[in-house]
Amino acid sequence: MKEPFSDLFKDSNVFANREVLSPHYMPDNLPFRDKQIENIVKYMTPSLRGERGRNLFVYGKTGTGKTSCVKHVVDKIKDLPTKARVSYINCRIYNSRYRVLYKITSDYLPVYAKRGYGLVDIYERIINWIEEDSKVLIVVLDEIDVVKDLDDLIYTLTRANSDIKSGGIMIVGVSNKISFKEDLDPRSLSTLYENELVFPPYNSNELALILKERAEKGFKKGVIDQAVINLAAAISAKDSGDARLALKVLSKAGELADERGDGVITVNDVNKATEAAEEELVYELVNTLPEHQRLIIYAISLLSIQGSRYKRLSGDSETYLFSGDIYNKYASIANSLNKGPKSSRWYRKYVFDLEMQGLISAYESGKGIRGHTKLIKLAYSPERMKETIEKTLMTEVEEVG
Ligand SMILES: Nc1ncnc2c1ncn2[C@@H]1O[C@H](COP(=O)(O)OP(=O)(O)O)[C@@H](O)[C@H]1O
Ligand SMILES: [Mg+2]
Repeated sequence: MKEPFSDLFKDSNVFANREVLSPHYMPDNLPFRDKQIENIVKYMTPSLRGERGRNLFVYGKTGTGKTSCVKHVVDKIKDLPTKARVSYINCRIYNSRYRVLYKITSDYLPVYAKRGYGLVDIYERIINWIEEDSKVLIVVLDEIDVVKDLDDLIYTLTRANSDIKSGGIMIVGVSNKISFKEDLDPRSLSTLYENELVFPPYNSNELALILKERAEKGFKKGVIDQAVINLAAAISAKDSGDARLALKVLSKAGELADERGDGVITVNDVNKATEAAEEELVYELVNTLPEHQRLIIYAISLLSIQGSRYKRLSGDSETYLFSGDIYNKYASIANSLNKGPKSSRWYRKYVFDLEMQGLISAYESGKGIRGHTKLIKLAYSPERMKETIEKTLMTEVEEVG
């Protein structure tokens, strides 16, 4: 019998440093983001000088480098001779007002984080700590849109500035959803005096260079050549301009080559890896979607599957759907599941969010038979989407039942 762990510490003939290819790895160098980094610094400058400035919101699709750039700046601030202090908070983990305040306390007032102090107590501790030497606290809220009581959080942080006699708080919010502010209460929105930055998706040349730098560190010499890197970049650029997807493809292709054992990543490895990476990505995306957005994607998948039948008859190459048809389908699905469908105003907002997350692409048609209308297409295979969603719907039914 084979030793169960015999492969565990075996040397790979493909990877030099697997960690470098992981999406959590922070490269020292962030090409094509000089301007964005410069702007983040510019908008933080008042806080770094100890003045109260505007808040900052950073937007852009997944994998456009938002987290990397913000963290890069945060790391640099830690070495500066400034009274400003930064708390970087991943809101997927710290997803409520209490947890965010708790995280700030554990960063800077660890004694108080240990015991179960209530909200008011930790709030007052933070205020006192800021006033002690008039510091400015920069609160970076990454993936801010997932905070459950976001209105309360924003209201608390912005209002704190009226409680603080000297010093202050600056919010830096980071989000994939440009429209998330529409969900905010007008009351918290009005306190949010902010600058905005938008990160564009990467094109295929940019992704190729990003991948090349990672490949040089991550793979052994001679494992991958430029043509294969370019292919991985081109595929990801076409889908989404998402550097995370591109890196996933690259490291999966490496794993395939590693399993085969000949130490060379081929075009075929990249193609196979793309399929696997997309499947994983779709699964992750769909699983984190709010319920009604998931139902909208389900409606699009069903219509696309039907539509492709029509396509075969008519010879059209692209399956674009009318936004109105999708809404009707979505509403009937929601009704059949006893979940009241949202209004068409909400629907348009959801469609926009789905587009931002790269799950669909949409464009406004010119004047046609139906006047101005939105045309929508799924970014991934409708069959795969349908299957994934049916799985998640099944588990929900089980959870409820
Ligand atoms: N300009 C860049 N140069 C090098 N790597 C990048 C760049 N932009 C993104 N990446 C890499 O792509 C992945 C996703 O980036 P991330 O900052 O998490 O994107 P976002 O927060 O916008 O989703 C990370 O592994 C990151 O290192
Ligand atoms: Mg991020």
